[in-house]
Amino acid sequence: MENDCLSILDKRTNTNYEVPFYKGTIRAMDLRKIKTGAEDFGLMTYDPAFMNTASCHSSITFIDGDKGILRYRGYPIEQLAEKCTFLEVAYLLICGELPTAEQLKAWVNKVTHHTMLHESTKHFLEGFRYDAHPMGMFISTVAALATIYPDARNIHDAESRRLQMYRLIGKVPTIAAYTYRHGLGYPYVYPDNDLSYTENFMNMLWRMAEPKYQANPVLARALDVLFILHADHEQNCSANVMRSVGSSQADPFVATAAAAAALSGPLHGGANEEVLRMLDEIGAKDHVPAYIKGIKEGKGKLMGFGHRVYKNYDPRARIIKQTAEQVFEITGKNSKLDIALELERIALEDEYFVKRKLYPNVDFYSGIIYQAMGFHPEMFTVLFAISRTAGWLAQWEEMVNDPEQKISRPRQIYTGHEIRDIVPMEKRGSSAISTSRP
Ligand code: ACO
Repeated sequence: MENDCLSILDKRTNTNYEVPFYKGTIRAMDLRKIKTGAEDFGLMTYDPAFMNTASCHSSITFIDGDKGILRYRGYPIEQLAEKCTFLEVAYLLICGELPTAEQLKAWVNKVTHHTMLHESTKHFLEGFRYDAHPMGMFISTVAALATIYPDARNIHDAESRRLQMYRLIGKVPTIAAYTYRHGLGYPYVYPDNDLSYTENFMNMLWRMAEPKYQANPVLARALDVLFILHADHEQNCSANVMRSVGSSQADPFVATAAAAAALSGPLHGGANEEVLRMLDEIGAKDHVPAYIKGIKEGKGKLMGFGHRVYKNYDPRARIIKQTAEQVFEITGKNSKLDIALELERIALEDEYFVKRKLYPNVDFYSGIIYQAMGFHPEMFTVLFAISRTAGWLAQWEEMVNDPEQKISRPRQIYTGHEIRDIVPMEKRGSSAISTSRP
């Protein structure tokens, strides 16, 4: 509609501007015409942490944070977690539609036949210290794959891009399992192509001397469900890094490593590890009220609570709670569950959390399940990264094919000095910042 525009009066110049609406937003570049004179650069917006800025079009994941809705390609997360496998969901995210039986067979076959690591990658992993954090090993090794597959730089070729996706989705569980066994000093287990994606992962993690690994089907399915829940989450911190690094036309291995680095932070995927530390620190159910009191007094954050987008219960947390019950029937209950349930009960009634719309997020319960399955907390974010690799690749593919995308390059508001001349060393005052260590 011709009248469908925003009218802006610039009181500095008393000039009226009309900015057309664009899909419920305005284009930031349309503000550039708002100037005080010919020398003026034009108006920009200031939005640290991208609180109110859409950086792309995307048809992959839909979230309604107020209603607690999460959908991949239009399908509710609840249905996907109930009816699909993780590899089926990875296909959906990347290809846009659920696969037919034939398409899924071919997709699984491709991914399965790219699970093995080049022996030099194995040697690379062996070089880490015995106590190296698995996430550091994971990030470095994914980046190192770029040296094995230089053809990945050919990002303009759709077929080559697809090959790198098979490689990445296929190899991330192998790398993750290697990082796990490295810490324990166990020999590496090679992939078994007869097994499903999660069964093979469990085989590479936990097989000892037995000739064939038999995964517990309930635990394998639980891991598959957790992978589905973590597979994508629209323009989160790590997806934004994937797109930003990918926008420079870097290859998908280094872009995925960069995204995994973003995921590793405690405010993002690293939160699941922090939740377990927090539950350990609390120690017992009756210590919960005192702990919550401390949080309200500003002593840190309640890890696994709150979300930039969800201002209602995170739908993934609800599904994880159900999955936890199935897992605990096999493994026995994790003693931390009682503390977590008490924490959730008290926080959901407390005015501080209610007012700020702070609810448990995906990471609040995932760590408790992972620990019951036998993972130590350092592995939790690596598990997250395995499944999020599918989402990162879907975001990357969409970005590469988007004709409107260019190299990512935000603007800044410069707050530094105006031009000044260098003062000779002997005349510099003590106001110069000291670089010497104490
Ligand atoms: N515990 C206590 N208070 C909190 C928490 C929390 N977990 N999260 C937010 N708040 C408070 C803030 O202190 C702030 O209070 P104020 O208004 O009095 O200053 C208010 O709630 C708003 O919080 P912001 O930090 O502005 O929210 P933001 O959207 O920037 O942060 C985030 C979201 C990073 C997830 C935050 O809630 C947090 O740090 N949570 C704990 C870490 C965590 O669980 N991260 C995992 C997120 S899910 C994922 O990435 C997979």
